[in-house]
Amino acid sequence: MLRIGILTSGGDCQALNAAMRGVVKGIYSKCDAKDVEIYGFQEGYKGLIYSNFKMLTSKDFSGILTVGGTILGTSRQPFKLMRVPDENGLDKVEAMKHTYHKLNLDCLVILGGNGTHKTANLLREEGLNVVTLPKTIDNDLWGTDMTFGFQSAVDIATDTIDKIHTTATSHNRVFIVEIMGHRVGWVALHAAIAGGADIVLLPEIPYDIDVIVDAINKRKEAGKRFTIIAVAEGAISKKDAKLSKKELKKKQEKKSYPSVAYEMAEKVAKRTDQEVRIAIPGHTQRGGSPCPYDRVLSTRLGAAAAEAILDGDFGNMMGVKNDKIVRVPLSEVAGKLKYVDPNSDIIKEAKLTGISFGDE
Ligand code: F6P
Repeated sequence: MLRIGILTSGGDCQALNAAMRGVVKGIYSKCDAKDVEIYGFQEGYKGLIYSNFKMLTSKDFSGILTVGGTILGTSRQPFKLMRVPDENGLDKVEAMKHTYHKLNLDCLVILGGNGTHKTANLLREEGLNVVTLPKTIDNDLWGTDMTFGFQSAVDIATDTIDKIHTTATSHNRVFIVEIMGHRVGWVALHAAIAGGADIVLLPEIPYDIDVIVDAINKRKEAGKRFTIIAVAEGAISKKDAKLSKKELKKKQEKKSYPSVAYEMAEKVAKRTDQEVRIAIPGHTQRGGSPCPYDRVLSTRLGAAAAEAILDGDFGNMMGVKNDKIVRVPLSEVAGKLKYVDPNSDIIKEAKLTGISFGDE
């Protein structure tokens, strides 16, 4: 009997269901149904901690390739709190190990982003067999060229910029589109290029408001009626980037904005004679059906996870490198982020086409 536990953790994204379907189809293609048991843990690590699961069969994974969200539900269980007992004094790590051993599991398949991978690695260190899959719209997981969810989110963010374009051309306004990504700017970068934004602000490239104002004014002088600024949630000014974490927190407490788009809108409105409007697609970027690229990637990664399980090769994340699916050790993945490199070709090329990053 092969007993597999499966869970989705952290913020959801498109293609989580498609990835789980890939795993399960891969397993059932090689094993007799009567020799497999699938335990679906509810709401991420919470389900594993509190032994909240449902038994699933291949039928449960049928018809979900195109369905957004996750059939298992998900939740954020911060890694830094994993070693902190819950409100009833329960040791969460011990509880997860207990559930795993009580159910006699052979392995856990864990779908998640950065925080999820830190906990997955912790469980590996604690002796559990773990295979992981890289999900996140942020595309910031180290060890894989691409995460599933990213391309779908870029499609949605691009669509927002496209729609803003038509209304922007009718008015003499600056439009600020806020795009998800607190620590990395992959979605904002790709959506800005795909949507033809004029300015894009990323966490990795601190901006100077004078440069932004200058770019807006130059467009106006050139007879352009509008400017579209794509701003990642974590965009930061050069001035603020020099502050320590503590100093920045203090500053933000003094004048807090609902989000970065509002801060940027206030700065731009003060410094130009143009009207400013904000558009925030927010969680729509994680919603809806996965795009075909994500369906293919997640299915491949899921099938590769099934193969790893059948090989008895654990402790790895399934990643994609140069279009090949690879097994990347969790010890290497955990705790590392894949940032946008300010000196990379894509940034240089975007600058060549006239996109301003607000830095020079
Ligand atoms: O990590 C994925 C992500 O969508 C980020 O891009 C975004 O900053 C964050 O999650 C939002 O988190 P929540 O869904 O908890 O508000």
